[in-house]
Amino acid sequence: MKRVLALCAAAALLLAACGEADEDPLADLNDEDPTTEDEAAVDDIDPEDPETIPGDAVEIFSWWTGAGEEAGLLALIDMFQREYGYEVVNSAVAGGAGTDAQAVLTSRMQAGQPPSTFQIHAGRALLDQWVAADAMEPLNFLYDEEGWWDTFPDELLEMTTDEDGNIYSVPVNVHRSNVLFTNLEAFETAGVEPPTTFEEFMEVAPALEAEGITPLALGDNETWTLLHTWETVLLGTVGPEMYNDLFSGEADWTSPEVVESFEMMEQMFAYINDDHAARNWQDAAQLVAEGEAAMNIMGDWAQGYFSTDLNLEPGVDFGWEPTPNTGGSFITVVDTFGLPEGAPNREGTIDWLRVLGSVEGQDTFNPLKGSIPARLDGDLSQYNEYGQSTYEDFQTDTLVPSLAHNSAAPPNFTDAAMAAVVQWMAQRDAEAAAQQLEQAAADYLR
Ligand code: GAL
Repeated sequence: MKRVLALCAAAALLLAACGEADEDPLADLNDEDPTTEDEAAVDDIDPEDPETIPGDAVEIFSWWTGAGEEAGLLALIDMFQREYGYEVVNSAVAGGAGTDAQAVLTSRMQAGQPPSTFQIHAGRALLDQWVAADAMEPLNFLYDEEGWWDTFPDELLEMTTDEDGNIYSVPVNVHRSNVLFTNLEAFETAGVEPPTTFEEFMEVAPALEAEGITPLALGDNETWTLLHTWETVLLGTVGPEMYNDLFSGEADWTSPEVVESFEMMEQMFAYINDDHAARNWQDAAQLVAEGEAAMNIMGDWAQGYFSTDLNLEPGVDFGWEPTPNTGGSFITVVDTFGLPEGAPNREGTIDWLRVLGSVEGQDTFNPLKGSIPARLDGDLSQYNEYGQSTYEDFQTDTLVPSLAHNSAAPPNFTDAAMAAVVQWMAQRDAEAAAQQLEQAAADYLR
């Protein structure tokens, strides 16, 4: 009973799963009082209120709730519990890209009440926020014990290691952010091919529109998707070298190529769905799944949504390309977990990290999540066609970090960039957006 309870901490979203775990799923329906003891207890667990979390549990904090996000996490938790038997609280706070979860995490960290472990992007989010604040324990001992120093690509180790050579988290996956998901049938109907360049995009969009198909699905109800889309367009107009130079403060944000990224996005956004502001990322991806729209720019958690949640077949029901003009470049989004100082159930948390860094853990999680393993020795036969092709690209492409997913820049620059892009969306002033970014770079990057 306790285990069922613990697994269902993200109350509302997980109640269905709780039902499945009960011996008789119909029993609840026959109850006179529809609020069972379990459900009442589940409702008592609130990630925003650490007092509600049992002190001896391993509390796993993330933003992986429903619709394509949670299946991999639940499978990992299940594996962890089978191997080690700890009580687990799944503290997942809903909201794509962790917008809400990160706010909850910040207030808990500031109050000195960290969860046992939390989802954090490799790169600046981890190093500039929590490592710089001395809030994390180094994990060198665990990498020694598990022999992990040669198991992960150097690029990923660098993204989680400080200047003193201390490593602070364990990567569970690699996602790609610059993916153009396509509805293959929609392209067939319009008699055109999925575009690989901006020029091709502008050619095929009117042909799709002529068939009554929305060319590009957008869901910017959560505004991070605007920053996400824009970083892929930016990579397309500036190329990977300048992209990196911009974030290291070596290139000028008012350069014509940066201004062009906003102008290009404006041209592309002439082809989006009218109700974009009412949709989140899953709702936008769903338009492509259903053939109402032909394309969606998203990270490959959308592939997890298509394949795991909607049961679609890659290469048949949906296609994928790098976003226009970004072939050969791979924007990485790497989810990791670490060990906060003073973490409740430290021993259990370290065992959790062992599971998510293991080859079995990664090959259980990633095929469901839509990502590829962070480890170099994953068993590719466990992955679908999409996963295998992404893994190949990851080996050969130029890797660059994601801004929207907190790896490329310190958090205050990311916030300023988000504000610039949101303002651009309202005013469509490319020069002004570039100026705002230049100011943010002067403040936070140089
Ligand atoms: C990213 C995260 C992914 C996925 C996505 C959408 O920031 O790294 O794992 O959860 O947000 O919520």
